[in-house]
Amino acid sequence: MNETISIQQLKSGMFVVEVTKQTGKVKIKNQGWVKTAEAIKKLKKVGVLEVVIDPSKTLQKDPPPPVKTEQVDVQNSPEDTVHNEPQTPADPWASSVSFEKEVGKAQKLYNQAKALQKRAFADIQQGKNIDVKPFKDVAHGFMDSVFRQQDALTCLTRMREKDAYLMEHSINVSILITIFAKHLGFSSDLIHELATGALLHDIGKVKIDEDILLKPSKLTDEEFEQIQQHAHFSKEILEQAGLSGIAIEIAGFHHERIDGSGYPYGKKGDELSQYARMAAIIDVYDALTADRVYKTGLTPIAAFKILKDGAGTAFDDTLVNQFIQCIGVHPVGTLVKLSNHKVGIISRSNPSNPMRPVVKVFYNAKHSRYIEVEDINLAKGWADVELEAAVKPELFGLDLMRFFKSSMIG
Ligand SMILES: [Fe+2]
Repeated sequence: MNETISIQQLKSGMFVVEVTKQTGKVKIKNQGWVKTAEAIKKLKKVGVLEVVIDPSKTLQKDPPPPVKTEQVDVQNSPEDTVHNEPQTPADPWASSVSFEKEVGKAQKLYNQAKALQKRAFADIQQGKNIDVKPFKDVAHGFMDSVFRQQDALTCLTRMREKDAYLMEHSINVSILITIFAKHLGFSSDLIHELATGALLHDIGKVKIDEDILLKPSKLTDEEFEQIQQHAHFSKEILEQAGLSGIAIEIAGFHHERIDGSGYPYGKKGDELSQYARMAAIIDVYDALTADRVYKTGLTPIAAFKILKDGAGTAFDDTLVNQFIQCIGVHPVGTLVKLSNHKVGIISRSNPSNPMRPVVKVFYNAKHSRYIEVEDINLAKGWADVELEAAVKPELFGLDLMRFFKSSMIG
């Protein structure tokens, strides 16, 4: 049953049906979820005093929200403070924004985040404090994109540049923690704090000698001790910047392990919050799957295996399982080979049948040549084609980044 509440009682995650009292002239075109504290502020600013909500649709922490929510794509109008209902609620995984439409926006956001990382590193090196506002804005951008169409940003986390690990790792951890927290049904305010903290979780590396940081060979004990301090420096930098406790926890404790074997503080068990435990899992997952100058990244399945091996000792067992379930064995962005010899990237997952996702094919392995890009939806009309395996681009001499940029973003 619907409930009438004052604007002061409105919380992010609530589903607004209509505005019943206001001093302005706001018209809510579409019923929908209010997803951020900023959105509520905006409603207050335009004079909204009272709204009707549908409490049955409030996004709960547990169980996860039953549907993906979409954001109205209208600029500078009061309507864009409220988020649309999915267009096809019968399909819980439907997205009203297509992957192709979202991917350009996602790439822009990703580049913006990269530029921001560079600037923050430079600021700290010059002894300045970091300006956290743009990081908070990027975190909001990630959230909005993930809630509109999470496959686009997920795909970008799989497109690595070998020499950009330092920048890309923090961005990827932020995107992955946003997706994971959404999967766990966290409130939007909480997701935002996690995403912001993750963007800055390795900022303390700026205080570590670059030669040690980028050393491809085995570190000496002394060098390793120095590297371990980066988490402590990150914590200090974020404390000075006035960020929230959750962001500070992620930065300070992402290398701690529940059995006490982590660093730099050697915290264990109950001393580590759910957020620090999530960050630890994602940090390792992204590091393992990343291509570096001196090594090729593992496939997601191989990385999951390592996480599973550490579950219950180093990592939180339940969270490891939930993370694997959230990302899926063949995450969006994975390069796969099909039984018809075509090679492509998974562009849309299929949670009800993970082995039959949508694959954007662009290469024929039998003829060793690029082919016209085509979407193959293995769940629809391709009964005779199977997903054979996840493959490494090197196997076919493929340049994924080149393909991705030219074929999908334009
Ligand atoms: Fe780290």
